[in-house]
Amino acid sequence: MFFKTVAAATTAAAVLAVGVAADGRPSNTSICDYYTTALLTNNTAANQMTLLTLVVNTAVIGNYTKPNVGISVPGILAKGTYNGTAVNLAPYFNGGLASTNTGGSVGRSVNFLDGGGAAPLMKNMPAMDNTSNQYTLITHLYEYFGVLLGCSMQGGGDYPGYTGHESMYSVHKFMDLSAAEVGYFIQQVAMSAASFGVAQDDLTVVGKALSSTFDVKCAPPTAVIMSQGPQLQSICIDETCALAVNSTCDMYNGTTVKPTVANATLAGNTTASSTASSTTSPSSSSTSTSKSGAVAVGMSFAAIFGGLAAFFL
Ligand code: HEM
Ligand SMILES: *[C@@H]1O[C@H](CO)[C@@H](O)[C@H](O)[C@H]1NC(C)=O
Ligand SMILES: *[C@@H]1O[C@H](CO)[C@@H](O)[C@H](O)[C@H]1NC(C)=O
Ligand SMILES: *[C@@H]1O[C@H](CO)[C@@H](O)[C@H](O)[C@H]1NC(C)=O
Ligand SMILES: *[C@@H]1O[C@H](CO)[C@@H](O)[C@H](O)[C@H]1NC(C)=O
Ligand SMILES: *[C@@H]1O[C@H](CO)[C@@H](O)[C@H](O)[C@H]1NC(C)=O
Ligand SMILES: *[C@@H]1O[C@H](CO)[C@@H](O)[C@H](O)[C@H]1NC(C)=O
Ligand SMILES: *[C@@H]1O[C@H](CO)[C@@H](O)[C@H](O)[C@H]1NC(C)=O
Ligand SMILES: *[C@@H]1O[C@H](CO)[C@@H](O)[C@H](O)[C@H]1NC(C)=O
Ligand SMILES: *[C@@H]1O[C@H](CO)[C@@H](O)[C@H](O)[C@H]1NC(C)=O
Repeated sequence: MFFKTVAAATTAAAVLAVGVAADGRPSNTSICDYYTTALLTNNTAANQMTLLTLVVNTAVIGNYTKPNVGISVPGILAKGTYNGTAVNLAPYFNGGLASTNTGGSVGRSVNFLDGGGAAPLMKNMPAMDNTSNQYTLITHLYEYFGVLLGCSMQGGGDYPGYTGHESMYSVHKFMDLSAAEVGYFIQQVAMSAASFGVAQDDLTVVGKALSSTFDVKCAPPTAVIMSQGPQLQSICIDETCALAVNSTCDMYNGTTVKPTVANATLAGNTTASSTASSTTSPSSSSTSTSKSGAVAVGMSFAAIFGGLAAFFL
């Protein structure tokens, strides 16, 4: 399965490198459908799931598939720099920060790399099991980004629709994310897509949509998953974030809670407050090996083709 997929991806990448830029995507075909066909030939639910698996896994841990079009992707779990600001997202995923919304009034420490970390992702799997926090997060990312990219075959057993939380603000609110952090995440998604041959015009479309929907503060209730209706979607909420068009700051209550350090070793150097007051992680820890060697995390994969704007900076 793994090798078969990689072989198919290789062929597709080669095809895309040659054909996509010249021909372009028909306006009546979604980005998901178009690149599933280009890379994997048959536009089936299973192949759409494979496309999203490749893009999300690569965005999270960096490029791992043998053939790509020559674009190196560091990955969301790797330390980096965005617009001149150092970024380190791993502590939000490895339990280093008490930043997960589990329903209380402050964030809690949760290890989202508890399903084997990077190793299963490199085998095109979400986790080594199907009960870990990592499994839930990564599969939800496959589902969510599939909807964002218009996967027409999604919704059945081969590729379920999104079943996670409705409001992206609610999910991310105790992370108190900045413009540099969200911009870096979106940039990695865009670079992942680019590494598989997605054309710049398509990257720009998705990047703008991701940025305007999630990388702004006080965004008005917006429907992303149609069946879930309009929800608060601002993921960027700290003082560095751009204000959304038609902003509705009152709906966000105005108060933000900065995450505290739960485990200084895992958190590394972060800008978060070092006041310790966190809680326990639900699962045993796991240390994943990332390409840069330092980071260990499992991320939500979320962004598949985001922020191209950032990509071109
Ligand atoms: C375009 C930007 C982003 C999108 C669309 C996005 C989307 C998502 C989605 C769909 C989930 C799963 C929610 C669920 O399972 O109910 C999630 C979870 C998560 N995201 Fe993001 N995300 C984005 C940016 C970020 C950034 C910048 C970080 C910073 C580290 C981040 C960290 C996380 C973490 C730690 C979780 C797990 C939280 C939990 O399950 O409670 N995300 N994200
Ligand atoms: C898109 O439009 C072309 C030309 O009008 C048509 O041949 C094709 O079947 C359409 N594709 C879809 C998915 O509707
Ligand atoms: C596409 O589907 C056809 C018909 O079911 C099948 O013969 C072919 O092997 C499939 N190709 C790929 C790459 O899956
Ligand atoms: C990542 O992509 C770069 C650029 O194509 C390539 O040089 C490198 O070998 C890739 N890394 C892996 C692990 O595939
Ligand atoms: C980059 O940072 C500068 C200065 O902080 C800011 O004015 C600009 O809006 C930022 N650009 C992006 C794309 O985040
Ligand atoms: C989870 O894994 C177990 C053991 O491999 C398997 O029996 C079960 O069907 C799986 N459940 C799902 C929802 O995939
Ligand atoms: C802002 O609100 C105006 C008036 O309701 C509406 O026409 C416009 O489309 C909205 N813009 C965005 C980006 O939501
Ligand atoms: C705002 O605060 C109220 C009262 O504490 C709470 O019920 C509501 O869920 C909060 N809204 C958001 C978007 O956090
Ligand atoms: C912090 O995390 C490291 C690495 O997982 C672990 O070895 C250590 O026991 C943790 N410290 C505490 C206080 O939990
Ligand atoms: C933390 O910062 C110090 C000083 O800048 C640096 O020497 C150290 O390597 C950093 N540690 C981590 C884990 O990034």
